[in-house]
Amino acid sequence: MQAVAIAHPNVALIKYWGKRAIAGNLPATGSLSLVLGGLSTETLVRFEAGRQGDRVLLDDREDAETSARVTACLDLLRREAGVQDGAVVESRNDFPTGAGLASSASGFAALLVAAAGALGLRLPAARLAEIARTGSGSAARSLLGGIVLLNNRDATTDCTQLAAPADWPLEIVVAVTATGQKAISSRQGMAMSEQTSPYYPAWVDSHAADLEAGVAAVRNRDFRSLAELAEHNCLKMHAVMLSTRPPLIYWTPATLACLQRVRALRAGGLPVFFTIDAGPQLKAVCLPEAADEVAAELSAIDGVCQVLRSPLGAGARLRANGD
Ligand code: PMV
Repeated sequence: MQAVAIAHPNVALIKYWGKRAIAGNLPATGSLSLVLGGLSTETLVRFEAGRQGDRVLLDDREDAETSARVTACLDLLRREAGVQDGAVVESRNDFPTGAGLASSASGFAALLVAAAGALGLRLPAARLAEIARTGSGSAARSLLGGIVLLNNRDATTDCTQLAAPADWPLEIVVAVTATGQKAISSRQGMAMSEQTSPYYPAWVDSHAADLEAGVAAVRNRDFRSLAELAEHNCLKMHAVMLSTRPPLIYWTPATLACLQRVRALRAGGLPVFFTIDAGPQLKAVCLPEAADEVAAELSAIDGVCQVLRSPLGAGARLRANGD
């Protein structure tokens, strides 16, 4: 009744920001993402016979909101397995938690794989993705590796791997500009944007075209088109955030300085582009030959506290010998 799983966070190049008005935490739009193999979450799940309730430790701490979301996911798996026992969950990240590095995506992907393993459940991939989504909208993308497309047709979640890590070996350089937890979670922020940003309808309406162009750029390994499109989609999401009431300003001065440096490097011919999620960290996506220079340039910017480097990574999996 115990298993350990490993998952990696992911970063969306074509993002989702907003939910559909139906149950099950269904994103309003599809998304396209890269799995960051250099950052990991490791999660142990142990179901204990006769235990009432779950105990959830994230980086050795208990938190009521996280515990409630974890229990909601575990309840769906318990129902599938016909089990009622409570679980002990211990999850650790080797990178800052809740700071815009998609720790919820890797966390829920690892949780599901570990819990399904502990219960001996073999669920269809689509059902696992659907349950992962209830914990975090982006978690289903961390179930697969490499470059992943998440489509939401009707009320279902459908994840596809567009490229395995070796098919297009991109490298991601993360400039960490603040390590504290963000004040407003993605889930809260999205709900605020849906209700108050005058740009939200335009964001949703223009999304399908971005997603289609993003998929084509990945299929054609067209870095230049992907760069222009991903930066546009990112800034469009941040325009929605900025126009929310009260405003969602996730950037620090160093985030903006990194953004400008990445643009200048690309204008000088370096194959690199930026993306930023609901947090202050900037992710620079590079062709491998650009990564050393990009890492050195971002490290030198005032306010950058740490630079992390990551290749594309594999999907969530049970821990095997050697992991
Ligand atoms: O998966 P959530 O609910 O934590 O929200 C993710 C939101 C963004 O990271 C900003 C965009 C995305 O598609 O990952």
